[in-house]
Amino acid sequence: MSGTLALRLKAASKALTKKLFVRTYGCQMNAYDSARMADVLAPLGYGPADGPEDADMVILNTCHIREKAAEKVFSELGRLRPLKAERPGGMIIAVAGCVAQAEGEEILRRAPFVDIVLGPQTYHRLPEMVAKASRAGGAVLDTEFPLEPKFDFLPEVRAEGSAAFLSVQEGCDKFCSFCVVPYTRGAEYSRPPAAVLAEARRLAGQGVCELTLLGQNVNGYHGEAGDGSTWSLGRLIRELAEVEGLERIRYTTSHPRDMDDELIAAHAEVPQLMPFLHLPVQSGSDRILDVMNRRHDRVFYLRLVERLKAARPDLALSSDFIVGFPGETDADFADSLALVREVGFVQTYSFKYSSRPGTPAAAIAQQVPEKIKEERLAELQGVLLEQTTRFNHACVGRVMPVLLDRPGRHPGQMIGRSPYMQPVHVAAASHLAGRVVDLRITRVHPNSLAAELVDAKACA
Ligand code: 5AD
Ligand code: SF4
Repeated sequence: MSGTLALRLKAASKALTKKLFVRTYGCQMNAYDSARMADVLAPLGYGPADGPEDADMVILNTCHIREKAAEKVFSELGRLRPLKAERPGGMIIAVAGCVAQAEGEEILRRAPFVDIVLGPQTYHRLPEMVAKASRAGGAVLDTEFPLEPKFDFLPEVRAEGSAAFLSVQEGCDKFCSFCVVPYTRGAEYSRPPAAVLAEARRLAGQGVCELTLLGQNVNGYHGEAGDGSTWSLGRLIRELAEVEGLERIRYTTSHPRDMDDELIAAHAEVPQLMPFLHLPVQSGSDRILDVMNRRHDRVFYLRLVERLKAARPDLALSSDFIVGFPGETDADFADSLALVREVGFVQTYSFKYSSRPGTPAAAIAQQVPEKIKEERLAELQGVLLEQTTRFNHACVGRVMPVLLDRPGRHPGQMIGRSPYMQPVHVAAASHLAGRVVDLRITRVHPNSLAAELVDAKACA
């Protein structure tokens, strides 16, 4: 369980008599969902468990994006089985998330001691499922895509620090040929602007000053407002910037094709929008981009980056890359390396292609050998590390607004995050926690930056 989720459960634990342990795999969307599942179960008396040994209920919130992620679930279930058998009062085991959605029947076949299997769209129904599972008589499987959006049935979100996630969009209609998300998370759905704004105001009222808008294809956001108009993500961000107390806004994850004029203009005109954008490109080869069904070529991406940087000159970009996509040649891979250098990504998440059953790419005959995938991954990560390091060094001497959000390892030290998500540590009093403070970057460490207060008196 993430530290923040444990804290949240502890805070709400006064009347809680049963213990819940949630293990989260995969993306930030899953981290958000795990917190919401804990919220849904709190009224039933579930509070935090320190680990699965100590839990009346365990939820594995799973990820199906790559093969390894899915296999981890089955090994974790293997470890839970004896714990459940030994526990006098029993244990409810639930498998949630995208593996549950894609392989629900298979889970119950391979692990018949699982009590509940639920997809990402049905966790607002968890209380009914728990009641059914407690009455015994077989496992509960609920992997529907219900007509009612789960957001309408979830309890209000509670803030647990100065930075929060807010889910605004779910699902994906893009159907990249390698990806399971359109199948596991379903069609694109955007929450109505009024619901998003209300949640943002509530969070800001509880001390949140940085909001990250989440969605599988977040810039495909098209929320229907009460007056019948449709809001794009750019419009939504403009309105969020008016919410009192919100000092920083981010969004993730985006598709290049959905980066419209209104959103690019927001990067120029909304100062709260942080100058750091995760814009996955996946490959630098036109041929591979085409087979991936990404619906754009490298020139389209490069022009887009130019427009974004014209709008916001201090913008830095990060990306996702897949190496060893079926049929990827040395020349295709060289195109990816060249694109990494040309764009100057400061951060990249790179993955070996993992064949996912049911996706079009899994049926392509020319799969790339594992060894070549590994070599390409290492090379790409090497180039990236150089670029990240160069960027970090270029930050030395700059003054940056840093959101100080937790105490450092040493007394009198605080850690925060720069606009570019770099961890920054500084000698500062703990009462500055939760504030955005101007810091001058002084040194680069392997995994963080060191800084000093620009105006120590103002912050004293
Ligand atoms: N194999 C490897 N990486 C994948 N991703 C999605 N599907 C696969 C797959 N089958 C990566 C993409 C995506 C990120 C979330 O995971 O790079 O942007
Ligand atoms: Fe998957 Fe993203 Fe492509 Fe959608 S846009 S199919 S989530 S990689």
